[in-house]
Amino acid sequence: MRQRIVAPARLEGEIGLPGDKSISHRAALLNSMATGTAQVTNFCVGDDRSSMLRCLRGLHVDIEHEHSPTGDETQDRFIVHGQGLEGLSEPDEILASGNSGTTMRLVSGLLASRPFFSVITGDESLRSRPMDRIVRPLQEMGARVMGRGGGSKAPLAFRGGGLHGIDYQMPVASAQLKSCLLIAGLSAQGQTIVREPAATRDHTERMLEAMGADVERDGLRIAVRPSDLTAIDVRVPGDISSAAFWLVAGLCHPNARILVQGVGLNPTRAGIIDALQDMGAGDGLTLVNERVEGGEPVADLLVTSTELSAIELGGDAIPILQDEIPVLAVAACFASGTTVIRDAQELRVKESDRIDTTVTELARLGANIEAREDGMVIHGTGRLNGGPCRSHGDHRLAMSLGIAGLLADGETVVHDADDVGVSYSEFWQHLSHICDNEGPDSQRS
Ligand code: S3P
Repeated sequence: MRQRIVAPARLEGEIGLPGDKSISHRAALLNSMATGTAQVTNFCVGDDRSSMLRCLRGLHVDIEHEHSPTGDETQDRFIVHGQGLEGLSEPDEILASGNSGTTMRLVSGLLASRPFFSVITGDESLRSRPMDRIVRPLQEMGARVMGRGGGSKAPLAFRGGGLHGIDYQMPVASAQLKSCLLIAGLSAQGQTIVREPAATRDHTERMLEAMGADVERDGLRIAVRPSDLTAIDVRVPGDISSAAFWLVAGLCHPNARILVQGVGLNPTRAGIIDALQDMGAGDGLTLVNERVEGGEPVADLLVTSTELSAIELGGDAIPILQDEIPVLAVAACFASGTTVIRDAQELRVKESDRIDTTVTELARLGANIEAREDGMVIHGTGRLNGGPCRSHGDHRLAMSLGIAGLLADGETVVHDADDVGVSYSEFWQHLSHICDNEGPDSQRS
């Protein structure tokens, strides 16, 4: 599908977000490993959700999907009937995790620990992403796991069980790696200690604690001992990674007012808010109706047009906003001065090489942007020129280009625009919804 976008004279409206993808995945997976029945509401919507549910059902977990009578998918309920770890059994088929790295890496922690044979694979993009980061420490824990390229790429094959705890210094700041090892550690003999080089999203630790697991947290050190989990209901907060698109649109468009509802603001995820504040968002980005839902801080975000200035970003700031860097690069095009993003080499092994793809596609739209090995440099010019661009099979790039189109002069056409469906199926409808009513601002072809 191609999506055509013409910048509207005004951006205005309210947006209800899909549930947070990382929290949804953990709610489904950890409840599948727990004992009891749990209800998950505001589950994320998109292909990655299907990937996680398909893998869990492949392990014979009973997960019901109750469709909302209104037809609104965000109102659907998922009921997970956990029967403890013993309730999971050998899959009849290869487990397919599609485009979802979180599914592959978290489920691998489980497969390594269960006493049966299993194989997990993914789509072409996921099969090219590094898996040695999980395979090596799982092998150190005693796992029998093999993969292509000497264990560095999927498909991965497991003959699980017989794990023992290790004390592991992670070489990369990755929440997927951390979560994989903690999940494996739940059924390893002794204690499993994971040490992070920088804080990454902590949804796994929070949920394990809430489920009664023996978890200790001390700064960047997390330790887990074998534990039985008790199922818990989860109402998933709105996904801040999806909110980021509307924050950038609202701040950078000259005539905008957008209210984004129910955004999860876990501090290990909210780096984009700090970055935009550092760029001068000020009163243009305010938190309304702050509350706590399901143990996570949540607020509505009101965003209005504001002049931004460049920032320099690196170090510990990167892991807590890394998925938002493509759209932050769009904001930097409209900020005065030169924005520098460093220490973000992990972007090279995401759904696409996000340094190269973001730089290539924004340059096609007239951005003054250069790639660096570990990031990018963006000279703000205050404008982009509409034109053709493409998503490179990357949902977050497709959406970032959609936002670029809302701000650019002339017409932008995003090719392979349906890639947004990986994490945010309603993205293009929401984009149309906030465009003014003067005409067909965004059209499909
Ligand atoms: C995720 C962790 C992040 C993020 C990904 C989702 C998770 O990756 O980029 O989209 O749910 O654990 P890292 O493993 O690099 O932290």
